[in-house]
Amino acid sequence: MPDDSGHLPVLPNQVCDLLDPQENDVIVDLTAGRGGHAELLAKRANGNPTVILFDLDEANLEFATARLEKLSIRVQAHHESFVTAASTLTDSGIQANCVLADLGFSSNQMDEAKRGFSFGNDGPLDMRLDPSKGTTAADLVNSLSEKELADTIYFLGEEPYSRRIAQKITLERQEKPILRTARLAQLVRDAYGARARSSRLHPATRTFMALRIAVNGELDALDALLLDVESGGRKVDSSGWLHPTAKIAVISFHSLEDRRVKQSFVALEKKELAKRLTRKPIRATDEEQYLNPRSRPAKLRAVQLGL
Ligand SMILES: C[S@@+](CC[C@H](N)C(=O)[O-])C[C@H]1O[C@@H](n2cnc3c(N)ncnc32)[C@H](O)[C@@H]1O
Repeated sequence: MPDDSGHLPVLPNQVCDLLDPQENDVIVDLTAGRGGHAELLAKRANGNPTVILFDLDEANLEFATARLEKLSIRVQAHHESFVTAASTLTDSGIQANCVLADLGFSSNQMDEAKRGFSFGNDGPLDMRLDPSKGTTAADLVNSLSEKELADTIYFLGEEPYSRRIAQKITLERQEKPILRTARLAQLVRDAYGARARSSRLHPATRTFMALRIAVNGELDALDALLLDVESGGRKVDSSGWLHPTAKIAVISFHSLEDRRVKQSFVALEKKELAKRLTRKPIRATDEEQYLNPRSRPAKLRAVQLGL
């Protein structure tokens, strides 16, 4: 159950233990969301930290900023993708000691029908994390070729019936454009046919996930971030965006994300730029999974530079 912020941070103690922020540290939350993790990290620092927040979603960023400002600490907020974090920090001569990326979207974004993330809650087929710009899910669903749709749903959603779903979508959109989440969810269910009854997940789960990842370029953003972590790790002086002993933690919710994080962190260790703080990904306990079902797929990995 989310709290009154609308989102419960996953793996809260594990994130704080791994990043272990100290007095006067610069804590960078690349995916501020509702500020849950950032608040916990700032409190754990138990001194006078600086907290720098990034988020593509202006409403989430404002909420998180207000939450952090109540702690009477220095807070900076950037309504930008985290792919700009390295240059933003470098330009302002700030080095991060602790960096967190809690990927994907927040529960309140999911619950708000007008954002279009939810197949259970009818709304416009949008799915942009930054609703002020960019391509919507409706744009993709109504313009991609059948093959492009099938590939997107297969590769980003790992959906076994992707071809059948793409066929259904392209057939139906000839009648009228697909503009609502409920209509898309019903089309996916229809494409599943009788298999929908035996599916453990709602049949539309993987299709919606694939579209959200595509709309927001989420894998490209993660790749760019991981490259910035490596280049930060190569700068062992005061010129980089990462402090020479910075800790970086990433929480992913998708096997394609976790694979990238794992490979990148293993490579950093091989190049002797960082040490892994997690050999295997940290998962939520049974109790957390029960209390916060969102935490079920979460995988947390972390590295520390310069060891
Ligand atoms: C899982 S939520 C983070 C929740 C947060 N840890 C908390 O405790 O409230 C992910 C957030 O990251 C944002 N986000 C996703 N991709 C982003 C990106 N490339 N750059 C900046 N923010 C991003 C989303 O808008 C969302 O608010």
